[in-house]
Amino acid sequence: MKGYTDLHLHIIPGIDGDGPADLESSLQMARGLVEQGFRRVVATPHCFEGNPSVTEILERWRQLDGELKRREIPLQVLPGAELLIEPRLPERARQGQVLPLNRGRYLLLELPLFQEVPPYLEELLFELKACGYAPILAHPERVKTFQRDLSLLSRLVSGGLYTQLTISSLTGLQGSTVQRTAGRMLDRRLVHLLGTDAHSGGGRLLETGPALKLLTKKIGAAGVEAMLKTRPEQLLHGQELEIPTVLTEKSRWQLLKKKLFSNRRQGMSHGRGTRFT
Ligand SMILES: [Fe+2]
Repeated sequence: MKGYTDLHLHIIPGIDGDGPADLESSLQMARGLVEQGFRRVVATPHCFEGNPSVTEILERWRQLDGELKRREIPLQVLPGAELLIEPRLPERARQGQVLPLNRGRYLLLELPLFQEVPPYLEELLFELKACGYAPILAHPERVKTFQRDLSLLSRLVSGGLYTQLTISSLTGLQGSTVQRTAGRMLDRRLVHLLGTDAHSGGGRLLETGPALKLLTKKIGAAGVEAMLKTRPEQLLHGQELEIPTVLTEKSRWQLLKKKLFSNRRQGMSHGRGTRFT
């Protein structure tokens, strides 16, 4: 399965201090993305308090897009931004000072990393939704509050927040706490989308293959396809994302017990009755 869409990466050169420093490095990164199986990406430079502006991002994106076409690199790059959550974000969104993914209605948000969730988060998400935006939270597995306890994230997701896991979190590249939290999020069906959050052609991007192997083992090929192809497609067409219902800790155990019981019954009917006892 190839032909993925990456909804989170830093590929525009020299714009946010996180992505490639120059155009040649951006193009090298684009070639690396194609090698990893991506055919479309949304460039999401960091954006804080309106900087860089929507106009600046679009201008720099157009330059990169032109170069990719000129050099015939088979990667479609669409414009977007990764918005750091701050109290005035809803106001900026109302004034059109934020850039949604591919200029649609989905906003990629990030919380300050390795910190507690700010107390105004729920109200901020409510306000963004009231303005017609659909918020997606990038890498919740790196947020301290969620690493300790997933109940707030479960509540936010049940209330309409979408989430995006960083692919390399699955292999432990971001540390064991992040990896453990990513696993728990998957168990509770709290992951809807994936992103490389790549900053270059190396590092995180090169983890894609091994991480997707692990993920396929955990949730199956159809689950991976939903996160890397089907839902990104829905998102880029402005449709609602089809997502599963969140599992509470109790319902997760009930489901596991049910699975175990049905496996055991199947085993018994095949003369392997003691396998799971
Ligand atoms: Fe990012």
